[in-house]
Amino acid sequence: MGEFVTLEVKDGVGTIRLDRPPVNALNAQVTAELAELAKEATERDDVRAVILYGGEKTFAGGADIKEMATRTYPEIAKFGANLTGTLAAIANIPKPVVAAITGYALGGGLELALTADWRVAGDNVKVGQPEIQLGVIPGAGGTQRLARLIGPSKTKDIVYTGRFVKAEEALRLGIVDQVVAPDDVYAAAHKWAAQFANGPAVALRAAKAAIDGGLDMDLPNALKLESHLFAALWATQDQQNGMKSFIENGPGKATFE
Ligand code: HXC
Repeated sequence: MGEFVTLEVKDGVGTIRLDRPPVNALNAQVTAELAELAKEATERDDVRAVILYGGEKTFAGGADIKEMATRTYPEIAKFGANLTGTLAAIANIPKPVVAAITGYALGGGLELALTADWRVAGDNVKVGQPEIQLGVIPGAGGTQRLARLIGPSKTKDIVYTGRFVKAEEALRLGIVDQVVAPDDVYAAAHKWAAQFANGPAVALRAAKAAIDGGLDMDLPNALKLESHLFAALWATQDQQNGMKSFIENGPGKATFE
């Protein structure tokens, strides 16, 4: 548990919660605390799915501009590498992860949301990569994860202009996956996460590894990765339970460890 970031676990769902008012700016300490909790969420068996949440008001307004402004080159290189590494640790949590976006997800805030498998947003949110308006560019995955998610042209529009994208357009572009009333954001994210809390954890882990790992490879190697992960699941009790239950009781009735 950190000063600005906490992990609360209930019924298999772990909520990583940012709490650094007013906009959850990501400074060096927040980055370190997030890394620690990504590790904890990865290692704890009672965490079966994860919600990234910034509270009712705002997800995150980005890296802390006041902290970054006077950094030297070596200092900012270190900060950028740390944040990039932290976001990779979150992206690599081998469990379903959903971002619950309220208010703003800007700069490093959107980069954090992009590490999730699924994004739920309030219908009043604004997301974007406004770094260009500060005379810099996204530095923690914004040019990479966003381009992989929505393609290079739309990413260039967003990164070159730095404009704020409203919820409806973000949904249309595929930056967010679901838009709900502002007050329902956490509940909708929780509903998405909770459906996996009693799921086959090793198969979910393999599915994520196959999809995310495969996207980093050429197709023949990605298909090999998938094939190996598929076969490896025959070493699990969940595969035995799942198939036995189908044969005896029909689809959708299996219970998993
Ligand atoms: C530090 C920030 C901040 C930030 C807001 N604040 N964003 N402080 N870093 N990223 C502070 C403001 O200075 C202000 O402090 C208080 O939070 C409230 O902000 P306001 O602007 O008064 O509120 P509002 O009008 O509601 O606008 C909210 C906002 C806007 C839309 C989030 O503040 C904004 O555009 N922020 C900057 C967004 C941005 O450029 N993000 C990218 C950062 S670069 P005071 O003390 O005056 O109350 C980045 C790089 C990542 O993320 C890669 C790093 C490796």
